[in-house]
Amino acid sequence: MTTSPIDLRSDTVTLPTERMHEAMASAPLGDDSRDGDPTVKRLEALGVERTGKEAGLFLPSGTMANLVALLAHTGRGVEVLVSAGSHISRTEMGGVAGLASLFHRELPAPRGAIDLEALRESLSPGLAHNRLATGLVAIETSHNDAGGTVPSLEHMGAVQKLARERGVPVHIDGARLFNAAHALGVPASRVASFGDSVGFCVSKGLSAPIGSLLCGPAAFIDRARAFRRMVGGNLRQAGVVAAAGIVALEEMIERLAEDHRRAKELARGLAALDQSFSDPRDVETNIVNVDLSRHARPSPEWALALKERGILVGPTKPKRIRLLTHRHIGDGDVERALSAFREVHARFAGGTPAHAAS
Ligand SMILES: Cc1ncc(COP(=O)(O)O)c(C=O)c1O
Repeated sequence: MTTSPIDLRSDTVTLPTERMHEAMASAPLGDDSRDGDPTVKRLEALGVERTGKEAGLFLPSGTMANLVALLAHTGRGVEVLVSAGSHISRTEMGGVAGLASLFHRELPAPRGAIDLEALRESLSPGLAHNRLATGLVAIETSHNDAGGTVPSLEHMGAVQKLARERGVPVHIDGARLFNAAHALGVPASRVASFGDSVGFCVSKGLSAPIGSLLCGPAAFIDRARAFRRMVGGNLRQAGVVAAAGIVALEEMIERLAEDHRRAKELARGLAALDQSFSDPRDVETNIVNVDLSRHARPSPEWALALKERGILVGPTKPKRIRLLTHRHIGDGDVERALSAFREVHARFAGGTPAHAAS
């Protein structure tokens, strides 16, 4: 008997639920970019309700939500301040420069929270003789590269205050906004309140197949809608997928707590196996970064050896593996993953090549 692999590479691998399939099959539809699609409108209204913003826009992806936010907030040639390792600077193929014509600067961000002193020094309200004007500050929460960490409310408040003092807007890349809100024990609207705009994905831990929402002031969303068209994100009968997003927001938020609990269990098990692997106190949401820096083998070798044992993981850095828990990962899967790590750890400690496993 073969068992299917346990996929810890991302929460984006989650499949639509039965209820999502039903909703998609029966969604009332229209031409979103002409007279409007009633199901998209419902999802946008729900996004507005959840984030406490004035208006919302449905987009195909989190990357497009960020790009359109960058375009709608700024003019060409200004500077965008982002956290070190931000998704905008690391994984969005340079769209910030190549498509939005913006310069971006990464600021140090311990545990994903932008260093406030660095922010204070870097914010420049206008063009100076040797300095670009700051057009936008972007916060990321939960912070993907930092291991799903969640900047505190106080920290976000301080970022907002500094930016406002200089008349600079703040965008929140909240691809996993509801994970962040759960970790902080507050409604998503509270987290969103620290940004002029906020983007979030329904396609990650919330299990919808496609889609993100960008929410903010009505005039900003009008601009964003025009820029969405410019970058090729014009939608037609998009209610087909928005219907799943509605189910995501109505039914899938509460269960994120389970993913967080299992991520902690994974981190605890890994720390028990080897303290250098992870510190469970660092795990705030559904992401666990496994530190392999004390080990000789690089992460692709670990990933291959784990794959041979039915565990899929993301080798995100030469000496780091990233694990994400999600709806398809149960308690037994956490156990299976840990036992695979135990085997690989023992094998590598013994110096046997990864693929020599029997
Ligand atoms: C923090 C963050 N922002 C944006 C995105 C982009 O989302 P998408 O893959 O839908 O473009 C991701 C995806 O993982 C993310 O983690």
